Amino acid sequence: MLPLYLFTYFLVIFGYMETVKAKSPGSKAMITNNGLKYVKEKSPGFKTRITSNGFNYANRVAMDTLVANIRTFSVPDQHGESGSFQYDLTNLRVTGFTEPQSSILILPGAGLKWTANGAGVSMHGNFRYTFRKRWLPTIRGSGTFDISVYGLDFSINMIFGVDVNGRPTIAASGCSCGIYRVKIKFHGRWAWLYNLFSRLVENRVRKILINKICDIVTKQINEDMEKKLASLPVTIKIFGHFLLDYRLLQVPTFQSSYMETFHKGEISWLGDEREAPFQPHTLADIGDTQKMMYLWISDYMFNTLGYAAQMHNYLVLNITAADLPPNQRGILNTTCTSFLCFGNLIPQLQKNFPNSTVELNLFSGRPPTMNITPGELKVNCSGKIVLYARQNDKNRTYVMSTMATMETTVNVSVSNERVHGKINGIMLLLNVTDSAVGPINSRFIQILINSVLKAVLIPKINEFGNKGFPLPVTGKIRFVNTSLRLLKHTMVIETDLKYMG
Ligand SMILES: *[C@@H]1O[C@H](CO)[C@@H](O)[C@H](O)[C@H]1NC(C)=O
Ligand SMILES: *[C@@H]1O[C@H](CO)[C@@H](O)[C@H](O)[C@H]1NC(C)=O
Ligand SMILES: *[C@@H]1O[C@H](CO)[C@@H](O)[C@H](O)[C@H]1NC(C)=O
Ligand SMILES: *[C@@H]1O[C@H](CO)[C@@H](O)[C@H](O)[C@H]1NC(C)=O
Ligand SMILES: *[C@@H]1O[C@H](CO)[C@@H](O)[C@H](O)[C@H]1NC(C)=O
Ligand SMILES: *[C@@H]1O[C@H](CO)[C@@H](O)[C@H](O)[C@H]1NC(C)=O
Ligand SMILES: *[C@@H]1O[C@H](CO)[C@@H](O)[C@H](O)[C@H]1NC(C)=O
Ligand SMILES: *[C@@H]1O[C@H](CO)[C@@H](O)[C@H](O)[C@H]1NC(C)=O
Repeated sequence: MLPLYLFTYFLVIFGYMETVKAKSPGSKAMITNNGLKYVKEKSPGFKTRITSNGFNYANRVAMDTLVANIRTFSVPDQHGESGSFQYDLTNLRVTGFTEPQSSILILPGAGLKWTANGAGVSMHGNFRYTFRKRWLPTIRGSGTFDISVYGLDFSINMIFGVDVNGRPTIAASGCSCGIYRVKIKFHGRWAWLYNLFSRLVENRVRKILINKICDIVTKQINEDMEKKLASLPVTIKIFGHFLLDYRLLQVPTFQSSYMETFHKGEISWLGDEREAPFQPHTLADIGDTQKMMYLWISDYMFNTLGYAAQMHNYLVLNITAADLPPNQRGILNTTCTSFLCFGNLIPQLQKNFPNSTVELNLFSGRPPTMNITPGELKVNCSGKIVLYARQNDKNRTYVMSTMATMETTVNVSVSNERVHGKINGIMLLLNVTDSAVGPINSRFIQILINSVLKAVLIPKINEFGNKGFPLPVTGKIRFVNTSLRLLKHTMVIETDLKYMG
């Protein structure tokens, strides 16, 4: 999204130039955040930082891309007139390019400045002109020409904002352009004559180009780039039923060595975007600027997922023998051949319901909560587990109810630009609250249910963890040199980037 979109934008900024056509004036970028309707004074649940190293890399790749592709750029035909003089320039193509010294600089408190110095471009094309005055015969001419531009210096500022939908906006300002020299050489029937005057033309073309380059780039940024930003997807559907919200909460900020963006980072039920009734904790602070990019993820993101899931009765699970791997199914038997088995550890089951299997209904009692502390990530769940004995397809009998809390420790990692989780351990505590078969040993029930959850629930949760949380990156950006740190209430991903042009 914003940061990575911007990043890729820099990589392809020149690519857009080939499609420049005169268009009606576009919408003005909005650079205040007065209109953010969905914000209620919230702290961010997600934040990114792009450092100078990131912008340097973007600039480097942009230049490499430009150099590699410039000869294939199609330059639109130009038609112009001045008084009685009309001309057409057609079949324009780039024949040479001198790479400029360029950089993307951060303007603290304001935005970004893109500069390029010492660029050179040569082009070849056809020309045709007509000179008409009522009382003179019409003069026409045509031929080909070569034009070279030397010492082109260029700089423009980009100022960012955010629109009412939480998408970034961009506006160009302070464009400046200078050209040291333009050289033109005509070929064709009257070329020797035209070339006598080329000095005059060169100066005029130089002035036109100086204005036109700023016009084109300003328009590129204010219209094309602005339009692309305005259509960025800022929410992502995940796990079939949920919406991950990466909308911007405020205008991006610019420090001397990095830019930061602040996002909502909340997950809600698809179609019910009510906000969770709690706030994100303040994100842990780190001052690092070595890597190209940093991403902060608050435990708020998971906690809002848990809240939405709980509110929509998503956290229920029925476990029957068929859900266990065949070699572990026997644990649910009431008539047993092995030690770790309900009928063995709970003799009342063997006695009252012989040749049956136990079934479990799990209901989460309150939203699961994630708690991140330095170096450790834990998730707590709690709820009710109800047990039944099934004799056959038609006969199922209530056995008992228990209250359970489960504390899980989770290993998190980043791969394929997603955050993955894997349960490392669970601690289950359980009380029998009601029984149809008399007093029951809670310790034994705990051991049995713990084994069932390990065989069924944990793999199910890991399936989600394996799919992972998507991060707001575009398809062409890859993370390299990536690591993840756990700080107070915060996961921080530190990474370099690679553009897969
Ligand atoms: C679980 O079983 C109960 C009945 O025991 C049923 O009402 C419920 O719909 C089932 N839930 C799921 C998710 O299958
Ligand atoms: C569980 O019951 C099934 C069928 O009654 C039987 O085949 C299996 O051996 C039993 N497993 C254990 C571990 O008791
Ligand atoms: C269902 O199973 C219970 C317990 O085994 C038994 O008492 C009851 O008679 C059975 N009911 C039917 C209709 O088979
Ligand atoms: C349980 O199943 C075994 C073997 O299928 C059978 O011999 C036994 O009589 C059954 N017990 C009851 C109480 O149904
Ligand atoms: C999770 O559960 C453990 C043990 O029950 C408890 O000590 C801890 O405070 C809980 N953490 C959260 C965030 O609820
Ligand atoms: C189990 O019961 C004990 C004592 O009543 C209580 O302290 C504990 O919180 C209960 N545990 C659960 C998981 O409900
Ligand atoms: C989780 O991380 C710990 C410590 O790094 C490691 O020993 C363990 O094998 C990991 N567990 C899983 C399930 O990946
Ligand atoms: C990865 O990190 C190393 C050491 O900091 C650095 O030399 C290398 O350029 C980085 N790779 C990329 C693709 O940025």
